[in-house]
Order: sequence, then structure tokens, then C-alpha cells
Amino acid sequence: MTEEKRRELIVSAFSAQKKAYAPYSGFLVGAALLTADGRIYEGCNIENASYGASNCAERTAFFRAVYEGERDFRAIAIVGKPNNAEKFDYCAPCGICRQVMAEFCTPETFKIILAKSEEEYQIYRLEELLPLGFTGSALNT
Ligand code: THU
Repeated sequence: MTEEKRRELIVSAFSAQKKAYAPYSGFLVGAALLTADGRIYEGCNIENASYGASNCAERTAFFRAVYEGERDFRAIAIVGKPNNAEKFDYCAPCGICRQVMAEFCTPETFKIILAKSEEEYQIYRLEELLPLGFTGSALNT
């Protein structure tokens, strides 16, 4: 991924964060998912009064992209913070979102970018955040 693309991805994640619907937790999350051919799909968290029906930003981005026919992904940028917070930490993806990433992405190469700004970020490979993941190949033995 070029530096320019990484910047664009982080900017897109911040843009997606503005659309977060989080009236219950007040925690606003944005994600931007990069496809192999350079397209970006944004997602935000969408909460529900029945809390378990809420959806994370990462999964919103994946489900939008998969619905559009995308199957080949390279990276995702994630930003998250409490509403009105000035200082905030990196927002790591939850376990369910890591599992969704494992369904569609190559663990050794898919990059997860946790960002505080365009300049301040950390990059992980999926295999680092979900070692020994359960995948469809286990079902075919
Ligand atoms: N959330 C995300 O959207 N992504 C994450 O990586 C962590 C958590 C959302 C779920 C819920 O709407 C709120 O943040 C608080 O957990």
C-alpha cells in the first residue's frame, strides 16, 4: 500500500466516523476498507435499543463491500473514540469483526490500521490479531 493510499484510507475512516449511530454507548467508530483494485468502502457503528442487534463499523464496511460483489481486500483503517473526547486511544477491532475479516482476507497479508490521525497510527497483520483463527477450511476435513 502506498503512503498516499494509507492516508486516504485513514481520512475515509474519520469521514465514516461522522456517520456513527451510537446513542447508547456514545462511542463513535469509523472504518474504511480497501479492495485489491483500490476501491474504498466506509462503515460506521450502528447501535440498537436491543444492544445485541448493534453492528460494528468494520462489519458495516465489509457487508457493504461484499454486497457490492467485492471479495478481495487488502487493508482496513479503524478510528474510534467517545463522543466529544479530545484525547483518545487506538480502537482495536472486536473479536467478531476479526472473525469476519478472517472469512474474506488472507491472514498473513491483510493489514489492520489503527489510527489516531493521519500521522499517528499502528499497523497489524490479521494473523497477529487473530492467531489460529477458525475458517471454512476446517469444515472440509
Ligand atoms: N465498536 C465498533 O464499531 N468497532 C470496534 O472495533 C469496537 C466497538 C462499536 C460497537 C458499539 O457500537 C460501540 O463501539 C461500543 O462498543
